[in-house]
Parts: sequence; C-alpha cells; structure tokens
Amino acid sequence: MIPQAIIDKIFDTAPIEEVVGEYVSLKRAGANYKGLCPFHDDKNASMSVSPSKGIFKCFSCGQGGNIFQFIMEHEGVSYPLAIKHLADKYNIPIEEGQIDVNELKEEARVKEGVYACLEFARKHFYERLNESQDGKVIYKPYLNERGINQQTIDKFSIGLSGTHKSHLLDEGLKNGYGAQQLFDAGLVKKISDDGGVIESNLRDTFIERIVFPIFNVSGKVLGFGGRIIKKDTKAPKYLNSPETVVYEKRKELYGLSVAKNDIRIKDQVFLVEGYMDVVSLNQSGVENVVAASGTAFTEEQARLIKRFSHNITMLFDGDVAGVNASLKHISTLLAADLNVRVALFPADEDPDSFIQKRGTAEFQGYVAEKAQNFIELIAEIKLGDNKHDPIKKAEAARSVAENIAALPDPLKRAAFINEAAALFEIPERILVDEVNKFKLDNRRQKDREVRREARVEEQHRNDGPPPDFDYVPDYGEMHTPPALLEDKKNYQEEELLKTLILYADKEFDEEQTVAQFIFKELEEDEIWPVSEDLAPIFKEAHAYLEEHKVLNELYFIRNATTSKVAAEVLSMRYTISPGWFDNFEKVVKTDEDGYKHQVVQNLNYVKLKHIEILMLENQESLKEAETEEDIKISLEVQANLQEFRKKITDQLGNVIR
Ligand code: UTP
Ligand code: MN
Repeated sequence: MIPQAIIDKIFDTAPIEEVVGEYVSLKRAGANYKGLCPFHDDKNASMSVSPSKGIFKCFSCGQGGNIFQFIMEHEGVSYPLAIKHLADKYNIPIEEGQIDVNELKEEARVKEGVYACLEFARKHFYERLNESQDGKVIYKPYLNERGINQQTIDKFSIGLSGTHKSHLLDEGLKNGYGAQQLFDAGLVKKISDDGGVIESNLRDTFIERIVFPIFNVSGKVLGFGGRIIKKDTKAPKYLNSPETVVYEKRKELYGLSVAKNDIRIKDQVFLVEGYMDVVSLNQSGVENVVAASGTAFTEEQARLIKRFSHNITMLFDGDVAGVNASLKHISTLLAADLNVRVALFPADEDPDSFIQKRGTAEFQGYVAEKAQNFIELIAEIKLGDNKHDPIKKAEAARSVAENIAALPDPLKRAAFINEAAALFEIPERILVDEVNKFKLDNRRQKDREVRREARVEEQHRNDGPPPDFDYVPDYGEMHTPPALLEDKKNYQEEELLKTLILYADKEFDEEQTVAQFIFKELEEDEIWPVSEDLAPIFKEAHAYLEEHKVLNELYFIRNATTSKVAAEVLSMRYTISPGWFDNFEKVVKTDEDGYKHQVVQNLNYVKLKHIEILMLENQESLKEAETEEDIKISLEVQANLQEFRKKITDQLGNVIR
C-alpha cells in the first residue's frame, strides 16, 4: 500500500493545471482552464480543468478525474505507476517497499523496467560522450565541427554508444538490469533469431554511434536514434530504436519535450526531417521545432502537435525525396485540420546546414519568404515554369482538389477552392465537382476499410490472434478504479453517492451535516448500498468521517475510486456546456435548500431498492415454503414490505424510476 501521506503530498505539490498543462495547451476561462481533450479527437476545447478543485473533465467524451486519473489515462499506466510518475516528477521521495512492485501487474512492471533501462542507457551514453577517450578525441570534436556546442549536447542529452558489441549489455547487466529488460527496451538485439534472450545470444543495438535520445512529451526516454560517423561502411547512416512497449513511433515526435513551450508561445511549429535539424535550429534560437524521424506523418502525431499549436510549417529539403515527403505529409496534416505551410530548402541544403551557414536572421527571412500553402506548393512542383501547359495545369488542379477534399472544415474547403480556381484559372464549379468526387472516393475507401477491419476481426475471433502477436499488454482491472458512471445498474446508489459528494459538509439541520445525516439513515435503516463497487466506497467514507469528523468534496476528489465521479458531479457546478441542462437537470436543480430535499429523495430511492430486493427474496422463500407456518410468515413479510414500499412511493410523489 502506498501511504496516504505521500498521495496527499503529491496532491498538495502538483497543481492540476500544471500536470495537465504538460500535455495540453490550456487557456484560462474564468477561474478554470480549457483545452483540447487529449482523449478523443477534440475540436472545441471540451476539456475543463479546475485548479481550485483539482479535477479535469471532458464534456465531450466524459473523461475526468484527478491528477492521477489523468496520468493513468494519458500514459496508459496503472494507479501505482501514476503515483510514482508524479512523485518522481515533483521530487517526492518514495521509500523502498512503499510501492510494492509485486502489486503491479506484469505488464506495468515490464514497462517500468524498460523505462529504467532506457534512462540508464541515456546516462551511460551521455557520460561516454563526455568522459571517454573516444568521446573526447573523436565524437565530440565531430559534433563541435558541425557547430553543436556543449550546452546543446546537454539540452538534448546527446551521447555516444559503446564501441564493441556488448558494451551496453555488459554495463547493464553489471548494474542490475536483466537481459530480458534490455532486450524489451530495444537496447540489445538477438544475434541469432532462433536463440533465446540470453547473454550469449545478445549484442548491443547501437555500436559506434552518436546517439540522440528520443523523449516523450513529458521527458521520458523512449529510445534512441544513432548516427554513424564512419564513412567507409555499408551500415545505414542512422539507426533507430525498434518499436517497444514504450516506444510507438507513430505517436511520438522528436524534440517535442524541449520544444513544447516555445511552440505554445509562438503558436507555431516547424516540422523538419532529421535529428540534426532539430538540434541545430534549437541551438540557433529557433526552438519551436520537431521531427517526425523518417516515417510518414501520422494522424496521432498531428493530434499531438495540435495540443500545442494549430499552425505547422514543414521545412524540407528541396530535393525529390523532400518534395515527395512533404506532399505525403500534407494530406494527413490537412485532414487533422492543421494550418499547413511548407518551405522547401535549396536542393543541397537542409535546415541544419542552412542555418549553420547563413545564421538565424537569414534563416527566418528565408522561411517567411518561401513558406507557401499546399496550393502554391503543388502549383510550383507540378507546373514549374510551364505555367500555361494545360495538361500540367489539370494534373496540378486534380492534386489540389484531392487535398482540399481532405479538409474537414467546409469553410476552409470553400476558401481554398476559391484560391485554386483563381490560380489555375479553372471555373470554381468544376473544381467543386472534382473535390466532391474525391470526397466520395474517400468515403467509399473508408467504408471498405471499416468492412475489411470488421472481417479481419471476425477472422481473429474464429482463429485466435495472429501468430506473431506474442506480446499483448494488458493493464488489468486490479488497480484501476471501477468506472462508476458506466454502470447504470446501481443507479439509485450512485445518485446517493453523487448527492453525498456534492453536499457532504453542508448543513442538513442544526445538529448534523448532510454526510452525518446520510450515514445515520443508512445505519439505522440498514440500507447500506449493496452493489459491489459502491458499498465499499460508502463504508470507507463513513469510516473517514468517524475518524476525522469531517467529510467534504476534497475527500472524494482525492480518493482513487471516486475521483472520476467527483469530477463529473463537481464540474457541473462550474462549467456550462451544451447538454448540461438536459442531462443533469435533476442533479443540479438546487434552490437554496433544494439539496436537503434531494438528499431525502435519494435516500428514499435507495430504501426503495432495498425493499424491492427484500420482496424478491421473500417471493423466492414463499415458493420454497413447505409448511403452513412458513407460508404464513412469508405472506406477512410481503404485506409489511408492500406497506413500507407504499409509504416511500407516496413520499416520493409516485415518481418511480
Ligand atoms: P538525413 O539523411 O537528411 O540526415 O535524414 P540528417 O538529419 O540531415 O543528418 P546529418 O545532417 O546527415 O547528420 C533525415 C532523417 O531521416 C532518418 C533520420 O531520422 C534522419 O534524421 N534516417 C536517415 C534514418 O532513419 N536512417 C537513415 O539511414 C537515414
Ligand atoms: Mn543534415
């Protein structure tokens, strides 16, 4: 068990707007903050964060809770790991054994071990670059020659891998990391595929390379990109970590953890192709820059960027590869509703070489002058100097139409159609038809994909998972608080809980608070909630009240099991959102004293539920009754219950849900 004192310390030290703000760009809205919800594809800043209450809540997808819920959802980790994550971040010491790793599910343990290995490797590589002989006489001078100074090396934690094939492997084992962990982290590879993950069959992934750690948005090492500097070799110039349990390439962007604040401030992000471009631009004072590292730009990456800014400018080489890459990325970026511009560099330059040669001011001037939208870009690439070649014009217009079709916003579509029509001197009507054709195609394509996926899934159901699917992360239920709001079976008890959260420390009458009244009633009438997930919550809250003599909303916000439902009911009072009145009228309908009425109502519903359960049980025993006497008793009980039931329903005004 993690001591409550540590959890409370974290709550007191880690402001929710800071924890959430690490991942989401938040704007002030009165006493609260608003931002794009990271848990669904949000377009309207549906997520609200309340610093005073310490909760977040998305009014669109329903996610909500305290700081730990946020980390659990966002990082896909269990509750204890979320605690550890924030404790580490805010330097709150956790002693050996306070978080019992044996309590964590196997997968969470694997992840934890992998992160530890990666962090160990980062440090080890960094020290090698700065302290080893090789580092000092070969590799650091290479970086310095390329204009990279010590401050930048430190900032990006650039390092040097080992020079023989089991350097990191040996160091890792010596420092207590397991062969399997190093393998899971992608730091060592198998020599022979047939052999096992044992020391004799493993070798380092990165040998004789300058390594760039790849961090996630919050600064955890996920993997590395390694550059070779020897020229006489067939090995690829860059080698990247494989996908692992923690490194999903399609979800990450190199440099984001360093760049994110500047992206927010400038409301603008540069997308470049390589590690060196990010590092070098940063050193020259252009800090709002990230790289997609070789792979095609994905929807997930677009969504990640969107949390910090909607304005993206691609800075790509002007060579064929760069042009093709930029064209490939554009449709993904447009479909994500990002404002995209592209600046192509002269064929033999990349952003790194350009800024090193010509300096920051000239670089910025060049980008400002060259950046163009996708219509201008396509026109330039497809038409070149043949501005009036009808065939080329048609080809360019078609490609533009295809990209316009990807835009989700109809107003933007109209504006770009307008611009394209003018540029290519093609009637708008015809472009509109063409765009619509692509839209129809896209929709059909999507339908086909959905159907294909459904078929594949169906097949998996019949055959079991495909054979290469040997690693299935499973963050089980054990440490995940139950999703109270999804289960409508316990409606009455849940409503009572909500009332309790909302009004616990309000006065019920001169002698008692609402909480005291509710628990007294539960106790006296023996109507403790019976549902499996809610019963312990009431019991625990009761024990807390007995011990501390106070119970208020803070208790429910900070309690892992109730923070989600607390976020739901409490956020209603401070944020008006569409649907608010329809959905929650009943709960929120509070004139000055209305809450007392509500407390009594909800208690009555719970009583009613109990009576109905008792009546059902009694009917069962009536069926099984064997003697006259038994039958008589059962019938009496039934009559009593019916009478009791009638009293309550009368009180409730015959409104039975
Ligand atoms: P570049 O070849 O343009 O490298 O590849 P660069 O970033 O300019 O690096 P320097 O200046 O030569 O040192 C761009 C990006 O493509 C990926 C890397 O992410 C690289 O940063 N790449 C390139 C690979 O993954 N493997 C390769 O062999 C080459
Ligand atoms: Mn380069």
